[in-house]
Amino acid sequence: MKIKVNDKLRNTQELLSAEVLSNRVYELAQEINSSYPQDENLTVLIVLHGSLIFAADLVRHLTMPTEITTIDLKSYISDSSNGMKSSNNIKVLSKLPETIRDKNILIVEDIVDTGRTLKFLIALLTEHGVKSINTCTLLNKPSEHIEPIAPKFVGFDIGNVFVLGYGLDLNGKYRNLPHILELI
Ligand code: IMP
Ligand code: MG
Repeated sequence: MKIKVNDKLRNTQELLSAEVLSNRVYELAQEINSSYPQDENLTVLIVLHGSLIFAADLVRHLTMPTEITTIDLKSYISDSSNGMKSSNNIKVLSKLPETIRDKNILIVEDIVDTGRTLKFLIALLTEHGVKSINTCTLLNKPSEHIEPIAPKFVGFDIGNVFVLGYGLDLNGKYRNLPHILELI
């Protein structure tokens, strides 16, 4: 599939098929299920909009009493970088509910790139006095980490490529694709 990046057509290729994604999401859920006591409440914090699709699939395989909450963060800028560069400037576009205090939080991210977003979110949750924090990301770019962040549950480690689909966007588009493409 060809997509337009700043008026130039770029090629893409499939990195992860819908079937590969669905199998790995199931496995990840089993890893999460076996690392929490089954009678303990879990609050899944979906980081919008990127992890919406992944989290929706993941939570349906979780077996503990699970709550879902969201936070709307923006870390990528649509400027001369064509929406493909991580930003130092993270904006919180929504408020965390007061009830987050004393909850066991599982942050669900689409992708950890520099790690700045995750670091920021962990600090924010700590300020809010949550009981515990774990992190889960579908994709992880270890070579790009600036912050020393190691997400606990990782779907796939990938290289320094720009990916889209299955929730991941380019300037707000292509989140609806059932698979993950990389720009080539
Ligand atoms: P970080 O703060 O640099 O770790 O960036 C994390 C956020 O950047 C993710 O939640 C994504 O929204 C976005 N991001 C990073 N890499 C990509 C990519 O390859 N495609 C689409 N979005 C990305
Ligand atoms: Mg995101």
